[in-house]
Amino acid sequence: MTDDMLSPSQEVIRRIEELRLALERHNRLYYVEARPEISDREYDALMHELERLEQEYPELDDPNSPTHRVGGEPLEGFQTIVHAVPMLSIGNTYDADELRDFDKRIKRLLETERDLAYVVELKIDGVAISLRYENGALQYAATRGDGVQGDDVTANARTIQTLPLRIDAPPEIAGRVLEVRGEIYYDDEAFRRLNEEREKAGQQLFANPRNATAGTLKLLDSREVARRPLNIFLYSIGDTDFNLPATHFETLQALDTLGFRTNPERCLCRSIDEVIAKTEEWETKRRELDYAVDGLVIKLNDRRLHGELGATSKAPRWLCAYKFSAEQAETTLESIDIQIGRTGNATPVANMTSVFLEGTQVSRATLHNFEEIQRLDVREGDRVVIEKGGGIIPKIVKALPSYRTAESKPYAFPETCPSCGGPLTPSEDEVAIRCLNVSCPAQLQERLQHFAGRDAMDIEGLGDVLVRQLTDAGLVKDFADLYHLKVEDVAGLERMGEKSAQNLINGLELSKTRPYPAFIFALGIRFVGITSAKLLCRRFRTIDDFRQASLDDFQSVEGVGDIMAQSLVNFFSNLENNALIDRLFAAGVDPKPEAAPDESQHVEAVAGKTFVLTGTLPTLKRDDAKKLIEAAGGKVTGSVSKKTDYVVAGEESGSKLDKAKKLDVQILDEPQLLHLLGKA
Ligand code: IVH
Repeated sequence: MTDDMLSPSQEVIRRIEELRLALERHNRLYYVEARPEISDREYDALMHELERLEQEYPELDDPNSPTHRVGGEPLEGFQTIVHAVPMLSIGNTYDADELRDFDKRIKRLLETERDLAYVVELKIDGVAISLRYENGALQYAATRGDGVQGDDVTANARTIQTLPLRIDAPPEIAGRVLEVRGEIYYDDEAFRRLNEEREKAGQQLFANPRNATAGTLKLLDSREVARRPLNIFLYSIGDTDFNLPATHFETLQALDTLGFRTNPERCLCRSIDEVIAKTEEWETKRRELDYAVDGLVIKLNDRRLHGELGATSKAPRWLCAYKFSAEQAETTLESIDIQIGRTGNATPVANMTSVFLEGTQVSRATLHNFEEIQRLDVREGDRVVIEKGGGIIPKIVKALPSYRTAESKPYAFPETCPSCGGPLTPSEDEVAIRCLNVSCPAQLQERLQHFAGRDAMDIEGLGDVLVRQLTDAGLVKDFADLYHLKVEDVAGLERMGEKSAQNLINGLELSKTRPYPAFIFALGIRFVGITSAKLLCRRFRTIDDFRQASLDDFQSVEGVGDIMAQSLVNFFSNLENNALIDRLFAAGVDPKPEAAPDESQHVEAVAGKTFVLTGTLPTLKRDDAKKLIEAAGGKVTGSVSKKTDYVVAGEESGSKLDKAKKLDVQILDEPQLLHLLGKA
């Protein structure tokens, strides 16, 4: 067939294919290999021609066309993708000895004493991703999720210019399926710019590039993702029938050939001693990188041995991570502030000269409590060393006393509350110091913020700034005052207009019928979190039930300990608290009780009894057994104790069965359980 004989549409098909291939190639040359062959203008001309053709012939559109890198329509939510091969995690090592142990373990398992070759790679601090290609075309991009299944973030991943939408494998390695895994990340500069824009827009800042990456990948509108410069490095293989090289080092080279962006900072070491030398080198060299790296990954080079070594339930045995020691920075502790929490707890907070640490500017750090200040002997004006505990929250590690001047004085503990001026009193049972003044404005503000929070009354329009304005203006002195606010009261406040005032009043109106657990949580009873509030509300369905409950009644709720029970009794026996609750109800607050559990299916022998399931049952899946027991009114818990009524044991029951025998707990097999449930 000659060109002359092609029908117009076949010609169009051919041209579209030609344009797509050309654009993908130029994309790769520009973004991955940094050696463009055409000008931006020529590139744009090709892109426009393709866009025009795809618009004209929508039936020829393809989600993997380079035109779709700019992002498409917003999604409703993410679909779940089950990984063909689970995405496991990596075991950590922290020093040379642990690396030697890792090497010894492998040698023991492989029954060899010869030196083993390893590839040392950078451990990119981003978000893990699995890309699946079938017949050369990207099928999906999925996050790691829980390792078994993750989110389908294809639309967002497609916007990453360095990610190939199609691959063209040389025949000697080509197969049908290739799953390639790697890390999506922001480089330091892109992260800095993103946070700068967010600051300008009054949005909350991302704590580090990893959070920013995760936040970006979770956006439902891929057009917004396309505006952000995410990037990707690929470093391993999942499911595949490709004929890949026998070593990991060569596999990375094969990924390069296929057009994937791999990290150039990799190195082949012939023994664990060479690996250790590399880790030492990178402890300092890592600071020269312009993206966040939290360690190195050490991988056994011979891929044929990977299968032989296998994996534990968490991580493959053929690789490990070497975590860098936490990065530290030196700065000056300018002052120590006292923050008063909603229960009056005073927390010291360090204000420091801003310093760059692991990708972010740091100027505040928690000092936890006053004992911590004593332990560290840190003083205002000190030079201090800080690091990020767990990689995110900065903390002061030590003071550097040699820099102190003659004026330096040990930190004097505050005696009065910075907000209300009342005395700060050490509590007997805790290391804490507390302001006991219940009308302290700082406490009131914290309590109101808690009251308005998402899990509590969820009052739209009532943020931290407005809370401060309302209390400063004396308009709100307790929760109930909120429900007496009028549009004109609020509209008069600084930076508030008629519209935002109305917004708040609407938000307050909606909050009146929140579910009971949200209301109980909103009251801010010490030690009662939202989960406990839910447990409590299953048993105590109205506010009168709470008011009438005794210490014993509270203690008998599963998940409620002695301290929480005592705190509930204290709260509900306090006259002021009860008056406040009455005022809330009088103002129209009317929380909705939880739906009553369906007791029609309860079976007498099971209702109220506690079960533990262990081992594999012959026919019932564990989840199904749990549902049957719960529908019959029983409870299923995780561990055997004296309170357990029955242990249901299947094949390979381990320590739970032993414990049941020791404690003389009745043991059932599946038929006995079904009999008890009235099902057999
Ligand atoms: S190999 C079995 N190589 O680190 C997992 N992972 O802390 C095989 N990571 O979940 C992964 N850089 O997201 C590998 N060069 C690298 C890596 C790397 C970063 C991530 C990965 C993994 C996490 C574990």
